[in-house]
Amino acid sequence: MKALVWHGKEDVRYDTVSDPEIAHPRDAIIKVTSCAICGSDLHLFHNLIPAMLPGDVLGHESMGEVVEVGSAAKDSLKVGDRVVIPFTIQCGECDQCKRGNFSVCQRSNRKGELGDKAFGHRTAGLFGYTHLTGGYAGGQAEYLRVPFADTTHLKVPDGIDDEKLLFLSDILPTGWQAAVQADIEPGDTVAVWGCGPVGQMTIRSAILLGAEQVIAIDCLPERLSMAAAAGAITVNFEEESVLERLNELTGGEGPHKCIDAVGSENHVNIGQPDTILDRAKQMLMAENDRPHVLREMIYACRPAGVISIIGVYTGLVDKIPMGQAMNKGLTFRMAQAHVPRWTPDLLRRIEDGQIDPSFVITHKVSLSDGPEMYRTFRDKADGCIKVMLQP
Ligand SMILES: NC(=O)c1ccc[n+]([C@@H]2O[C@H](COP(=O)([O-])OP(=O)(O)OC[C@H]3O[C@@H](n4cnc5c(N)ncnc54)[C@H](O)[C@@H]3O)[C@@H](O)[C@H]2O)c1
Ligand SMILES: [Zn+2]
Ligand SMILES: [Zn+2]
Repeated sequence: MKALVWHGKEDVRYDTVSDPEIAHPRDAIIKVTSCAICGSDLHLFHNLIPAMLPGDVLGHESMGEVVEVGSAAKDSLKVGDRVVIPFTIQCGECDQCKRGNFSVCQRSNRKGELGDKAFGHRTAGLFGYTHLTGGYAGGQAEYLRVPFADTTHLKVPDGIDDEKLLFLSDILPTGWQAAVQADIEPGDTVAVWGCGPVGQMTIRSAILLGAEQVIAIDCLPERLSMAAAAGAITVNFEEESVLERLNELTGGEGPHKCIDAVGSENHVNIGQPDTILDRAKQMLMAENDRPHVLREMIYACRPAGVISIIGVYTGLVDKIPMGQAMNKGLTFRMAQAHVPRWTPDLLRRIEDGQIDPSFVITHKVSLSDGPEMYRTFRDKADGCIKVMLQP
């Protein structure tokens, strides 16, 4: 079959690889009808996440049709079912899965001992990601092997386009969780850093969850316009001081809730000198991530507020103003999204017409255009916000 394959830094190829096969009775094989490129794939593209191997098949946002089912998954799946596959693989039986903490499933990471060493404890297996999370082949491919398939799927009805359903795999529940874990209350001002696909879903979720004022921060005009279309007030950090604008918009008190939808790869620019230092430290391997947004959120946030982190961090960060966070009494919430905790409700909201996440797609192309699209999405070129690929 054809698939997008990681070969090293900034080297993704459209390769022929062997077809996936049922390897365990709980597996299923999906014929992928649509998949997408995520901001998390860019961290792999930039080789910022350790333990990738040349030949790894990428992709963790996929949906399609079931074409083969292992003997132990037959009670919950049958050939022909239409499914969205969450980016997190879950056993459904461990203590964490029972608590709904699916992204830290204790049993789905087949290379759990690597996770134990890197993180202190293993986290869930993820599709198309590092070997620290199992090194499972991803779904930017014609076919996808789904381990623990009896619990790792969301059945979706016919009659709704892939465009509206695909993002149940990741960015919609991810944006939703970013807003939910901020504990939004009526009257709240919520500031969202980053207006990429995840930020866009977060902004709309914050509004649906009752935020009075949502402030969207980025530097890309087309992304800020998309945020404004949802009802957010926008701040372009290249043109104005984020801290000054946030204080201005909140009577000097700061936002009640601050959400990081940027993560590891903050833009490096002269207006934010700490980002230049972070970049230098990254090159010297003295720091893993560029945490400018985290620092800014801690300064900006109203005392007793919540910092919700949904942008991905990969390792060690420097100069986090912990004293300020402690003295202001801030609460930190963060996670890889616990996708299936939210998707049944979000699917209902899509069916009701309350949410239509397809607005974020700017590029719909063939899977074979994937290598070029990784560069376009990375460069934010051609107005690119979200790439949907079809095998
Ligand atoms: N936790 C999860 O489960 C989960 C799931 C999916 C994606 N993610 C992560 O979410 C993050 C965003 O993903 P995406 O697909 O939207 O990626 P993206 O790269 O398209 O978006 C990032 C946005 O941040 C903006 N940005 C950079 N520096 C900024 C700054 N200083 N202030 C404000 N904005 C700034 C960029 O201009 C860009 O628009 C990534 O780190 C990704 O890995 C997390
Ligand atoms: Zn993702
Ligand atoms: Zn589990």
